[in-house]
Amino acid sequence: MMKGSFPVERFQGMRTPFYYYDIKLLRRTLDALESALSQSPDFHVHYAVKANFNPDILNEIAARGLGADCVSGGEISAALAAGFRPEGIVFAGVGKSDEEITTALNAGIARFNCESIPELEVINEIAGQLGKRAAVSVRVNPDVGAHTHANITTGLKENKFGINYEQLPEVLNTACKLPNLEFKGLHFHIGSQILEMQDFVALCNRINELYPELTKAGFKVVDINVGGGLGINYQHPNHLSIPDFELYFDTFRKHLKLPVGTQVHFELGRSIVAQCGSLITRVLYVKKGTTKTFAIVDGSMTELIRPALYKAYHRIENITSDEPEEVYDVVGPVCESSDVFLKEASIDRCHRGDLLAIRSAGAYGEAMASCYNCHPLPQSFIDR
Ligand code: LLP
Repeated sequence: MMKGSFPVERFQGMRTPFYYYDIKLLRRTLDALESALSQSPDFHVHYAVKANFNPDILNEIAARGLGADCVSGGEISAALAAGFRPEGIVFAGVGKSDEEITTALNAGIARFNCESIPELEVINEIAGQLGKRAAVSVRVNPDVGAHTHANITTGLKENKFGINYEQLPEVLNTACKLPNLEFKGLHFHIGSQILEMQDFVALCNRINELYPELTKAGFKVVDINVGGGLGINYQHPNHLSIPDFELYFDTFRKHLKLPVGTQVHFELGRSIVAQCGSLITRVLYVKKGTTKTFAIVDGSMTELIRPALYKAYHRIENITSDEPEEVYDVVGPVCESSDVFLKEASIDRCHRGDLLAIRSAGAYGEAMASCYNCHPLPQSFIDR
């Protein structure tokens, strides 16, 4: 089996499970992103901090001058601490608290991506109290279904996100008329782990229809934020470790029909950080059942919840064995039957003490870790 290369000898003394981050790969990924962006000065990427807010990862990304897409006051603080400039920070989320709005206004972030009239009213009120003006965009629900699993689509009518077309004029009127708000643009996001460029084409088409209608109705739309969602290859992290950013941006270059000079913003999370991270876990026991063999590892859904929560596939490699492959259900110690990383995984024969790498775990891995069962939060190993 082809495997990633891991500096196993340097893992001595690390308590397992832990997150391993290949910073060289992250840098190559950021190089590819920069190069794909270089022909489009009107395209701006805000890294979606929710995907991974490990400070070392944030520092690497902030050093490239990207913006940040935040969904909480905590993420805004983490982004600022890592060196993201406030003028590059956008703040999304259906439920921004008063405290978070205050944090954002005081920090001087670029944009609030707003999702309801009551939210606009509260931002207006707090901005007034602070003697500030808040730049706002309105998140539109484009009713575009992405070809990804149901739990992570966000652009459909029935989702809680954004404003449906029928309600849009009323919301935009509110955004334009409230005195402490400055209406700037539209925000979209159709889902995550999207590999079909047709889904993004559908989004472009919706935007192309909507933009002239709104302009005709007298709304001045300065910029468009198309959200994030570009997927990665979970099957082949070794062959396809860097997403096709060229194809992604080309799709928007080709299909978005906006007046020259309209700024287009992107909020990429997974595609930037997923492949550089692996969860390293140790085999505790190999247990023979009546029909199956279980590799019981010390990692669990508390460090990486994606398989349990979404039935998401993560490739697993035994990085300390070169023996012939065998088939295992790789499971964690948590008292939940969903605490399974992978069923019927073919991996090099496992022995107690072996280290397994659960691949493509840099996005929504460490960021979604919990302390269930009193597990400590995982540490990380930063490989520069
Ligand atoms: N912008 C907005 C408004 C979002 O809601 C999201 C992700 C992003 C940007 C970044 O999307 P990305 O480029 O990473 O696909 N925990 C799930 C994914 C949830 C994504 C939520 N929103 C998972 O582990 O697959």
